[in-house]
Amino acid sequence: MIPFLQHNPTKLWFGKNQIEQLANEVQNYNRILIVYGGGSIKKNGVYDDVMNQLSDKTIFELSGVEPNPRLTTVNKGIQICRDEKIDFILAVGGGSVIDCVKAIAIGVPYEGDVWDVITRKSRPTSATPFGTVLTLAATGSEMNCTSVISNMAVNEKRGWSNPLVFPKFSILDPSYTFSVPLDQTIYGIVDIMSHALEQYFHRVSNTPMIDRFIESLLITVIEAGGKLVKDLENYELRETIMYAGTTAFNDTLLNGTDGGDWASHQIEHAVSAIYDIPHGGGLAIIFPNWLSHCLDYDPSRIKMLATNVFGISEEGKTTKQVAEEGIQALRSFWNSIGAPNRLADYQIDDSRLDELVEKSFVKPVVGGYKILDKESARDILVRSL
Ligand code: NZQ
Ligand code: ZN
Repeated sequence: MIPFLQHNPTKLWFGKNQIEQLANEVQNYNRILIVYGGGSIKKNGVYDDVMNQLSDKTIFELSGVEPNPRLTTVNKGIQICRDEKIDFILAVGGGSVIDCVKAIAIGVPYEGDVWDVITRKSRPTSATPFGTVLTLAATGSEMNCTSVISNMAVNEKRGWSNPLVFPKFSILDPSYTFSVPLDQTIYGIVDIMSHALEQYFHRVSNTPMIDRFIESLLITVIEAGGKLVKDLENYELRETIMYAGTTAFNDTLLNGTDGGDWASHQIEHAVSAIYDIPHGGGLAIIFPNWLSHCLDYDPSRIKMLATNVFGISEEGKTTKQVAEEGIQALRSFWNSIGAPNRLADYQIDDSRLDELVEKSFVKPVVGGYKILDKESARDILVRSL
């Protein structure tokens, strides 16, 4: 293992009726901006539950945050916070709403253009405090300090992190995810598994605890996720997936490692930046092709995944054969729950391949388990068409 610091300051309230903690959590704030998406929270009752907790506060609202949240919406939120002297922001929604709020929070006190922060040209030193009420299990944004924002003017989707944007608290009631439609439930399952997988592919030795944590998370999500897609209002299954989603990307799984690979995420962000497809859908296509790309480079961890997570037998097989069967098992699981497996499923062809490769390199280094050059990224994209 390599030396590490574990410090996640987000307070997590998990379980049925935990929304009752909200009033107490915001007791020291008065002017609150509530941020949400396209209106699902008004249909499933979450909006009313939130408002009931905030009856003595002065409330402002920003709605219409897009899936793959846009810089234009972030700027709208910053303006409201400045004009109305907002002292607390509450995100109510999935990863997109939370990511948008993180960018608003850091943008309010920052005098320059918030895109400079997102593109890491500038690193501000303060942010407006915020909390979240999560309605979709997928990104882990509710308990990490990462955010992903799209700037459609330049067709770029950028991930950024800053410890100032850990939520002060997050409230997770699995019953709030009953209304998540089947497609988004599938994308969530794929995203959660992809976060665990990205961290599994690291290059540090003697990490048995972390490796087994990740394998156990994957086995659990496969078991519960396979059932959940046929039983969307099952509380126990929603509960399992929601907890897995938070754990998969709140730093728990990278203690002592180099952080893992994340090239598939960078390539997927390039695809979403240009074609605006759902993040989990893109990962279901890219990740298995990243694995196939890595087969000739180093199949050892893919083999470990195959045996420990998918129960593939090693008898009479080479490392590469076992690894190949593991990749097939992952594809089969994602196919079985209804995830897409080709870019063609989103009507994406090779006409903008060069641009997709370029946009995959918005950060200087792509990958960790295998550092990619542009030819490698192209190979993964071509395999994905
Ligand atoms: O907008 P509303 O009406 O709320 O509908 C949303 C949206 O259409 C709907 N939804 C959410 N909760 C619901 C619900 N519908 C019914 N009932 C509910 N309870 O689901 C749709 C998708 O929501 P979104 O927030 O976009 O999904 P997700 O949580 O998957 O977030 C995706 C975004 O997060 C980024 C992705 O790139 C993408 O932009 N990521 C953020 C990360 C992070 N901050 O750590 C890491 C991830 O790897 C990822 O890149
Ligand atoms: Zn993701």
